[in-house]
Amino acid sequence: MPKRIAFSRYGDSDVLEYLDFDVDEPKSDEVVVENKAIGINYIDTYIRSGLYPVKTLPSGLGSEAAGIVTHIGDNVTDFKVGDRVAYAQASLGAYSQYHLVNENILVKLPDEVTFEQAAASMLKGLTVYYLLTQTYPLKQNEIFLFHAAAGGVGSIACQWSKIIGAKMIATAGSDEKISIAKKNGAWQGINYNVENVVERVLALTKQQKVNVVYDSIGKNMWIKSLDCLKRRGLMVSFGNSSGPVTDVNLAILNQKGSLYVTRPSLASYITNKTELNIAANEFFSYVAKGAIDITIREQQKFALKDAATAHKIIQSRKTIGPSLLIP
Ligand SMILES: NC(=O)c1ccc[n+]([C@@H]2O[C@H](COP(=O)([O-])OP(=O)(O)OC[C@H]3O[C@@H](n4cnc5c(N)ncnc54)[C@H](OP(=O)(O)O)[C@@H]3O)[C@@H](O)[C@H]2O)c1
Repeated sequence: MPKRIAFSRYGDSDVLEYLDFDVDEPKSDEVVVENKAIGINYIDTYIRSGLYPVKTLPSGLGSEAAGIVTHIGDNVTDFKVGDRVAYAQASLGAYSQYHLVNENILVKLPDEVTFEQAAASMLKGLTVYYLLTQTYPLKQNEIFLFHAAAGGVGSIACQWSKIIGAKMIATAGSDEKISIAKKNGAWQGINYNVENVVERVLALTKQQKVNVVYDSIGKNMWIKSLDCLKRRGLMVSFGNSSGPVTDVNLAILNQKGSLYVTRPSLASYITNKTELNIAANEFFSYVAKGAIDITIREQQKFALKDAATAHKIIQSRKTIGPSLLIP
């Protein structure tokens, strides 16, 4: 019988169970994908913990994978059995050998992109696409600050900023991670476990600070990020790795220079098939020609049944770049 990961209560990684399940028949606009590789994203830990509650428990987990189409619904015209495909915005349950996916969120994979590369990068790549080109469109030579730059999203952001020609000040939690971010294209690096982020940003920008900060760390970085922004700069708060930012007194934006803040999500930037195809074509074309390298460290490829171990390791901050589950 097919297997998947599910959870019936919120909690730490031990709530994840490896269970048998039945794959439903696809509805008219759905396809069944046999997953060959499954993306792990930090958001999966928020869902598992209850920070982002699900509609009903028990629930599957994961929204991203790559694989082969095995069945199609009656009205599906854009895909056929045997197609190599990837998805990043599926309903929960991608931590699974098979997943039912609406055809509107599916893309065909270029031959040059492997299942592992696609599953490890699609959600993160689409995120970097909207952050760097839409939330705040970076310009050539523009200096900006990006936190957790050696992570899954961060590794792609370093490489995409190099394509744009913008100058990333990358932060991360170790010297090894900083040197990887620089190898990926970051202009400068700050190890936030030993250096003062605000002082270093002031020095690197000759006291000018930056127009935009991309912050996925959340709670522990909020004030420092605001202090790195120029007058009327934009704080892009796009994650909660250290916990969510709550109880904000809006007056702080006034005091620190009429700042702007946005709390964006992929779901409000990629909202239909047209937007998905534009973003995915651009991202996967960079991966196909090697302008964005997606390498997954062997120790960050986990068997599907070991999803709980994978979550523990990701939350312990030991990972570099993306991680995968292999069904
Ligand atoms: N809004 C969106 O559309 C969207 C989409 C995708 C992802 N995200 C967010 O982007 C972030 C990165 O996602 P990812 O999947 O690529 O994960 P990741 O960056 O591979 O892992 C998170 C990293 O955050 C850093 N971190 C800093 N403080 C931490 C703490 N207290 N606990 C744990 N980690 C901490 C760690 O790097 P160091 O060791 O270098 O500190 C860790 O490796 C997440 O916050 C995620 O929620 C948002």
